[in-house]
Amino acid sequence: MVSTPLAVSENSGLQYLPNVTPEAPSPNQHLMPLTARVNEHDHLEIGGCDVVTLVQQFGSPLYILDEETLRTACRQYRDAFRQHYPGESLVIYASKAWNCLAVCAIAASEGLGIDVVSAGELHTALTAGVDPSKIYVHGNNKSVDELKMAIAANVTIVADNWLELETLAQLESDGPIRIMLRLTPGIECHTHEYIRTGHLDSKFGFDPDQLESVFEFVSQHPNLNCIGLHAHIGSQIFELQPHQDLGGVMVQWLLKAAEYGLTIEELDIGGGLGIRYTESDDPPSIDQWAKVVCQAVAKACQERGIALPKLIAEPGRSLIGSACVTAYTMGSQKTIPSIRTYVTVDGGMSDNPRPITYQSLYRTVVANKMSAPMTETVAIAGKHCESGDILIKQAQLPSTTPGDILVVMGTGAYNYSMASNYNRLTRPAAVLVSQGEANVILQRETLADLIRHDCLPERLSQSTSE
Ligand code: LLP
Repeated sequence: MVSTPLAVSENSGLQYLPNVTPEAPSPNQHLMPLTARVNEHDHLEIGGCDVVTLVQQFGSPLYILDEETLRTACRQYRDAFRQHYPGESLVIYASKAWNCLAVCAIAASEGLGIDVVSAGELHTALTAGVDPSKIYVHGNNKSVDELKMAIAANVTIVADNWLELETLAQLESDGPIRIMLRLTPGIECHTHEYIRTGHLDSKFGFDPDQLESVFEFVSQHPNLNCIGLHAHIGSQIFELQPHQDLGGVMVQWLLKAAEYGLTIEELDIGGGLGIRYTESDDPPSIDQWAKVVCQAVAKACQERGIALPKLIAEPGRSLIGSACVTAYTMGSQKTIPSIRTYVTVDGGMSDNPRPITYQSLYRTVVANKMSAPMTETVAIAGKHCESGDILIKQAQLPSTTPGDILVVMGTGAYNYSMASNYNRLTRPAAVLVSQGEANVILQRETLADLIRHDCLPERLSQSTSE
């Protein structure tokens, strides 16, 4: 089969991507999955599978997840931490980016741990066979049931606030409960206002001025085994400085904990590395990010003469974001002279709520017209009853007709996991592609699924049948 690497194909409409060396591709710097090619039918191919054929076979819209890209990102994180950190390390996948059995299983098979934020995510990770000693439970309002479930599963709980600490101190357990403490470092970074979590006005974690009283409380409750400290400063971050600063700040906390007799074995510096959604995005590579984080923590420990803690990072977006594309079937078109042309797809804000929520930008290609010249500038509209349901405001496309297959790139993170049934659309299927094989990892919802939890009280069903 004749294949052209997408990133360098002029005909594909994608410009040559700077910062990307074929020998050491960092998936988060790519617009497309690493296996993306244009095949002899002028179709987009991912994981050795023709995208047009995949849509014919599995329906539309369709999430297409490239196993090689996901595994490459997992390995790059894991290997970079091993290479740059002189102590023990563990990368845990922030599964809120995309939590399902197959994705958890892939991350775990690459040696990664999993970060979960709810009973649902925990249940999925456990069912996927993830080792409980590598599962970390986050959340700023965990229910008592969620805490009990986490204790029973013997996973690590990242305590976020006083209520949670006090509850944990009273809950029964077979032995001391493994906890971490989440702290708010007060580090600003330039990302969307909604996804900043490290600054002081945050709903997450203990404020630094509560540090001493939290340490004191924990030291007085022997059923709490505080093994680590955690911080996460935000998401889709391109700067390296905030994470470098964070390493130093966290080592200071570690020293403070020692004053209270707490032996902190683990430092978890969160996630946050950004990905390239459009050509103008220029994120650092996974290796560059890991190096900065590792060196900052190692240096701060060495300067203070303290033993290196186990270093944990919990990336989400940069592990899976670039590994997936969403394929849609194009439908109606509307041209408003001198204003705009709308082209529609058979999904929208229900399968990708990021444009309407964060004004996020995406890039797109037409999978069955890869070398057609990009002659049109159009708005790509979803099919929801909402004017704001526009996936891309200004997309460069070839001339398209209904039935063409439009592909939106970079949809691996926070798309399926934030998907909804708005307007009672069924959630799309997802396929995992690898070396020409495609396996369904999420079945397309059916109309029956949509009403599975609906209840029709007897008296209403009588009145409708009359
Ligand atoms: N750790 C914690 C505690 C987090 O809250 C998050 C993300 C991560 C790790 C992973 O961050 P990442 O490596 O993915 O940047 N829905 C938003 C993103 C919300 C991020 C929430 N926390 C979006 O679609 O952009």
